[in-house]
Amino acid sequence: NEPTSPTEEDLLRRQLELADDEFNMERFDSALVSYRRLLAADPKCFKALFGIARSLDRLAEAKRSNAFLQEAIDAYLNLLAFEELPDDIFVSAAQRAINRLRFRGFHMKAVAVHKQLIERFNDTVEYRNDLAINYLMVNRLSDAERILLDTLSIWPDDPVALSHYGLVLKLGGKTEESIPHLLRGLSYDHPGTRDSRLYFHLGDALSRSGRNHEAMKTYQSGVDKGLFRSVHQRSLYNVEHLAARPWWTHKQTTYEDFFRILESNWKVIRDEGLSAMKLRGVYQDEAENLRDVGDWKQFQLFGRGAMNAENCKKAPVTCKIVGNFAPARGCKRGQTKFSVMEGGTHVWPHCGPTNCRLRAHLGLVVPPGPAIRVAGETRKWKEGRVIVFDDSFEHEVWHNGTSLRLVLIVDVWHPELSMAEKASLSPI
Ligand code: LMR
Ligand code: MN
Repeated sequence: NEPTSPTEEDLLRRQLELADDEFNMERFDSALVSYRRLLAADPKCFKALFGIARSLDRLAEAKRSNAFLQEAIDAYLNLLAFEELPDDIFVSAAQRAINRLRFRGFHMKAVAVHKQLIERFNDTVEYRNDLAINYLMVNRLSDAERILLDTLSIWPDDPVALSHYGLVLKLGGKTEESIPHLLRGLSYDHPGTRDSRLYFHLGDALSRSGRNHEAMKTYQSGVDKGLFRSVHQRSLYNVEHLAARPWWTHKQTTYEDFFRILESNWKVIRDEGLSAMKLRGVYQDEAENLRDVGDWKQFQLFGRGAMNAENCKKAPVTCKIVGNFAPARGCKRGQTKFSVMEGGTHVWPHCGPTNCRLRAHLGLVVPPGPAIRVAGETRKWKEGRVIVFDDSFEHEVWHNGTSLRLVLIVDVWHPELSMAEKASLSPI
């Protein structure tokens, strides 16, 4: 047997192995060069293009570079257009492209990739649900609804489609109508339904419909699945190690000096809140769909760690006091705002979004009538006094009186957060 000289194909295969070795040894720069040389030699070599995409992807992470990331995304997208691409590489490139597009905030650009997956795997329900969830991430409720209804017409019992269709109805204000879909969807305990938002909104819909026992069961099941910290504390953006209690004393917060300053200036703060009320459009209707009945408006001075300079001109002393106190001024996960509530108002039981803040209320105008329940304990405001609670716990407000109630709400960082945590937490 005479040894035959290697064919061109053998050489390319050998070069690909070498490039893969470099990739596996995490030498992404040289892997990238090798894959590029290969693709130039053989423009049909999808494995080389996949290698280019993955090397760029890893380099983007290492260098924290959006330019590299965009190149990686483009390479994944080019790959999807290859003829005769095997299923496993198609799926893996598509899903990574979607993941990276979402990471960059380009959810609408991911839609085209979702559609390619659906077209190629027309009988796989998961890819349709992923598209609906992608739309939900950017609050495109009617797009999500269209996809989900189409899916349910083919798979009427699919747990993920059912529960997310219920979520769309709930977010669109169709509280009662959402319940059967959410209930049925969650009843299968499908992994794709283990999402705190689904349990959060089903419980809320049940509770608003007077079905409190079932609401409690829903919250308990969320706790059992590790989705909520407790049945009473159902915030979705949490730091695990933080102490949790509904009501806090000034001393427990460690911010008692700041609260004393607020209390000793309460009259000038009150007067700033009242004068702003005479200006049109300064106080804005509560916009989170938390009101059952009544009238409840807010005038915001700080939010997401930044001062609202325009509004602060109308309440300079209040802004100076809050602006001088870093845990309030810098609280990226909260706000400072005046909150005015008319008699005859009821705010549904609800939980704030995060356990990273405590919420201080300085009573400014307090007629008979209003009260606030946090978890199991109801309290009342007093003029010139600060009360502090953790609004990640369920709370509910009534004002059964007849004249307006005014408070200043000041969110402060939870005192147990480290500097590093405060710096790295995303704003809310
Ligand atoms: C809340 O934080 O939900 C309420 O306590 C606000 C308010 O004005 O009472
Ligand atoms: Mn609240």
